[in-house]
Amino acid sequence: MCGIVGYIGDEQAAPILLNGLTKLEYRGYDSAGVAVYDGAEIRMEKVSGRLARLKELTDGGLTLPGTIGIGHTRWATHGSPSDTNAHPHFNSDRSIIVVHNGIIENYSALKQDLIRRGYEFVSETDTEVLAHLLDRYYRKYKSPLEALTRVMQKVEGSYALGILFKDFPGQIFSARKDSPLIVGQSPEGNFIASDVPAILQYTRDVFYMNNEEIAVLSRNEIKFYNVDEELLEKTAVRIDWDINAAEKGGYEHFFLKEVYEQPKAIRDTISPRIHENEIVIEELGMTDEEICRVGKIMIVACGSAYHTGVMAKYIFEGLARVPVEVDLASEYRYRDPIFDRNTLVIIVSQSGETADSLAALRESGANGQKVLGIVNVVGSSIAREADNVMYTWAGPEISVATTKAYSAQLAAFYLLALKFGLARGAMSRDSYQALLDDLKRLPEQMEAILKDRQQIQRFANRYLAADHIFFIGRGIDYAISLEGSLKLKEISYIHSEAYAAGELKHGTISLIEEGTLVVAISTQESLYPKTVSNIEEVKTRGAFVMALTSEDNRDIEKVSDFTVYIPKTNRYFAGSLAILPLQLFAYYVSLGRGLDVDKPRNLAKSVTVE
Ligand code: G6P
Repeated sequence: MCGIVGYIGDEQAAPILLNGLTKLEYRGYDSAGVAVYDGAEIRMEKVSGRLARLKELTDGGLTLPGTIGIGHTRWATHGSPSDTNAHPHFNSDRSIIVVHNGIIENYSALKQDLIRRGYEFVSETDTEVLAHLLDRYYRKYKSPLEALTRVMQKVEGSYALGILFKDFPGQIFSARKDSPLIVGQSPEGNFIASDVPAILQYTRDVFYMNNEEIAVLSRNEIKFYNVDEELLEKTAVRIDWDINAAEKGGYEHFFLKEVYEQPKAIRDTISPRIHENEIVIEELGMTDEEICRVGKIMIVACGSAYHTGVMAKYIFEGLARVPVEVDLASEYRYRDPIFDRNTLVIIVSQSGETADSLAALRESGANGQKVLGIVNVVGSSIAREADNVMYTWAGPEISVATTKAYSAQLAAFYLLALKFGLARGAMSRDSYQALLDDLKRLPEQMEAILKDRQQIQRFANRYLAADHIFFIGRGIDYAISLEGSLKLKEISYIHSEAYAAGELKHGTISLIEEGTLVVAISTQESLYPKTVSNIEEVKTRGAFVMALTSEDNRDIEKVSDFTVYIPKTNRYFAGSLAILPLQLFAYYVSLGRGLDVDKPRNLAKSVTVE
């Protein structure tokens, strides 16, 4: 993971770099550093811990003169998050300096070779290899561009790089392979960054870098090359995001703000695709005949995006009668999946940069599969490499633990399942119409749930010291349990597990003791009596039960200790309502425990390493 930025222009670079890094902290936040060149000396400051420490140390960047610089916020892969391992990394005579996002997979062999040649290493990172390797080739070929292309040919793995050469005070060198990188252009200066929000305040004109491309930035010019040093023509894209969308807007945390943005995220995802009561998904790129020919859907993703896939399986199979397989991208890519021409592969990703999901996409493409991406970040790698991309219009999501992107992904699946259901004759037009009406009502129902968050806060405050919390449910309620449990453990650090309610008795029930909190989700009418029986089973063994059910199931109070009601909707969409109290519960437990809700320990938002 990690985030990189670079700036060359008229202004003092360090405050701009620090500002950019603030927007990239979601990519990693265990250490940070900047290097600034004033034409005489390259000055570097780096420190373990949060970016705030680096800001303090440099008085917001003011202590570092110079109008050219690079910066980095780290999520450690090789070497602990120490001051020394923080980026940037110098070569030995401090004439070349590098920031890097990615992993150099053959760094160990390269390092041994460089040590044999007399190079001395100070850090444990894979990145330092790049600084010394650049040094080696620069000494040999005397050209920074040549040195960079030689390094690119030598290293295996992924990288987005920002590099300064002391001999070239007016230039930033940059390259990418399998880690995101954009280049920004403005009359006042030029930029590199791992992601758009880092530079949005300064420019909206952005070039997306492709794999194995190089950018050389000077004050008034940006040149692009391939690894053969041939000049490339690239066109800038104009970013039209609302800049406020990446700010907290009065909320204490991005997490809470994004929870409250979910009704809008769903509206924005479904509304443009409903025309006169008909779902139109042009970007799907499939005719109804092609939809009918689909023999199987394979959904591949990581984390919460994977959980939307688990939910989508119930929905597609129920509404469109098409078999669905769901797999974790990190498993799928190495399990030699069986491909056939009638399988539609769907890769789901908020960031569009998750390394395992991207690899799964490439694996599918190489085997001739048609791939649909459900992606939130416009122009991201998965969006660009999928055959077709259906965007979730959740807007920029900053909090590391996802909420609104998850909800928008579910909405995308609802649209697809309804479209498939009608096209394949699995549902009548009347049912389609009724479901579409329910879908359109969802944002309003979500707003109603979000109006009252105090009761959840009060309840959450009783569980700040819990050691274990269990989530149970059946069918779609099981899919929601998975996400509710993940949210809780991500941001509260309380151990929590989700179980299919009927499976509890096959082992997990032995963990239930006096006072264990069990969150029981029961929104599926046909499964309601079954889940109630499972609640009784845990209650008998001392569990304290929080039930989450539809508002007409008041009799659940006979078996539950605390109940949260959600409005009635179609059973297929109930998950979108049930997840809201669970997100709020996780939020208030995290808040009550005094944790960093938006940036939980050890995690990162965009996981661009395997
Ligand atoms: C990380 C994030 C999760 C996210 C997962 C997949 O682990 O912390 O919130 O669900 O990556 O990310 P993606 O960007 O592919 O949806």
